[in-house]
Amino acid sequence: MKISVIGCGYLGAVHASAMAELGHEVVGIDTDAPKVAMLASGRAPFFEPGLPETLRSAIDSGRLRFSTDIADAAGSRVHFIAVGTPQQPGSNAADLRYVEAAVQSLLPQLAAGDLVVGKSTVPVGTAARLAEPIEASGATLAWNPEFLREGFAVQDTVRPDRLVYGVPSGEAGERAVNLLNEVYASAVVARTPLVVTDYATAELVKVAANAFLATKISFINAMAEIAEVTGADVTQLADAIGFDSRIGRKFLNAGVGFGGGCLPKDIRAFTARAEELGRGDSVTFLKEVDSINLRRRQRVVDLAVTALGDRLHGAKVAVLGLSFKPHSDDVRDSPALDVAVRLHGLGADVVAIDPEAVENARARHPQLGYSTDLEQTLRDADVVVLVTEWPQFREIDPVWAATLARGRTIIDGRNTLDATGWRDAGWTYLGLGRP
Ligand code: UDX
Repeated sequence: MKISVIGCGYLGAVHASAMAELGHEVVGIDTDAPKVAMLASGRAPFFEPGLPETLRSAIDSGRLRFSTDIADAAGSRVHFIAVGTPQQPGSNAADLRYVEAAVQSLLPQLAAGDLVVGKSTVPVGTAARLAEPIEASGATLAWNPEFLREGFAVQDTVRPDRLVYGVPSGEAGERAVNLLNEVYASAVVARTPLVVTDYATAELVKVAANAFLATKISFINAMAEIAEVTGADVTQLADAIGFDSRIGRKFLNAGVGFGGGCLPKDIRAFTARAEELGRGDSVTFLKEVDSINLRRRQRVVDLAVTALGDRLHGAKVAVLGLSFKPHSDDVRDSPALDVAVRLHGLGADVVAIDPEAVENARARHPQLGYSTDLEQTLRDADVVVLVTEWPQFREIDPVWAATLARGRTIIDGRNTLDATGWRDAGWTYLGLGRP
C-alpha cells in the first residue's frame, strides 16, 4: 500500500521504516531539511537499536523515501500523522500546533477515499475536531495510538502487543478498519489483539496506559520513601507483591523515577485536559504521581550531599548515565540529567558519562562536565552516582572502581547494582528505599 508518514521524529522515523519493512511503499515527510537529508541517506538522526538496519534495508529495497515537500503525500492511500505533542511552555497542556499544522498542510493533498491516521498522543476530543475538515475533503480520519517503547521501537512497531483503531461510525468507519487491517496485515495474521472503538476511547487508551504506568512507578517509589524511614527494602517488597499476578513485577523498579518524552508530559496534559472538561478531580492523583516522581530526583541529590558532608563545593561527582533510560540517547525530562544539573547547581564538579546521550545532554546543559571514558569519569571522584542502568555501568567491577575513585560512596539511583559486591569491595552502597 502507498503510505505517507508526516513527522519523522522518534515515532515517525521508526513507523515509516517499519511500514516499508512490512512491504508498503512509504514516503516520510518532515519540515526539518537536515533530518530528512540524513534519513534519506540511510542514517538515523537518533539512537534507536535496530533502526539503522531497518532504515537502510527499506531504502535499498526502494520502498522508502523521505521528503520535505508535503505534496509528496499526494497519491498515498493512508497518511499517518506522527508529529510531536510536547508540553506547552508555561502550562501543563499539550502543544498541538504541530498536529494542527500537519493536518492543515495535508488537506490539499487528500483525495476522496484516503485515510488519515493520527498516531500522535493528543488530548481527548482532538480527533473529533480534526475529523471535520478531513471529511470535507472526502477522506476519513482514524485514531491509532502508538505504544512503542524507546529502545524497542522497531520491534514494538513491527510486532505490536495490541492494535487500537478509533474510527467514526458507519460505512466510513468500516472502510477505515479494512484499510488499517491491510496496513497491519502481518500483525492481524498473527492474531494481535485488536480493539475497534470510537475516537475518544482511542485517544484515552493512550493517555490512560501512560498514566497507569507512571502511577505504578510512583506507587513503588512512594513505598521506597516509606522503606527509607522504616529500614525496609523496597526491592524485596516489589518482588513479594509482584508475585501476585494481579499486580505483576513489571514497572515496579523503585529508583530515581520516570522521565522521557512521554510519561511526564502525558500525565500533565491529561490533568490539564481533565480540568478543561470539569473533571480535574478524577485525576488529581496524577499530580501526586508527578510530585513523588520529582521528589526521587532530589532524594538522590540529598544522598550525595550527605555523603560529601559540607564538602560539596568543588567535590568531584561522577554521574553514570544521562539518558532517561538505557538503550536510548533521549534526554527529554531525564531524571539522570536533572540530577547532574542539580548537583552542578550546588557547586559540585560534575563529570557525567553516557554511552549515547552525551551530545544531546551537552546541547542542553553545556555547563556540565562530560566524558565518554569510564576510567576518566571515576578517577578521583568523591562520590559516584548511577542514574541510568546501562549494562556497562551495571558491569563495573567495584574493586577496579575503588582503585580510581577518591571517595568510597556509590549511590545506586536505579537499585541495579549488586549491593553486596560493592560493599565487599569497601564501598558505602546507598540504594533508594533500601537499608
Ligand atoms: C512509554 C510507554 O512505556 C510506551 O508504551 C509509550 O508509547 C511511550 O511512553 P518510554 O517513554 O519509551 O515508553 O519509556 P518506558 O520504558 O515506559 O520508561 C519510562 C520511564 O520510566 C524511564 O525513565 C524508566 O527508567 C522509568 N521506569 C520504568 C522506572 O523508573 N521504573 C520502572 O519500573 C520502569
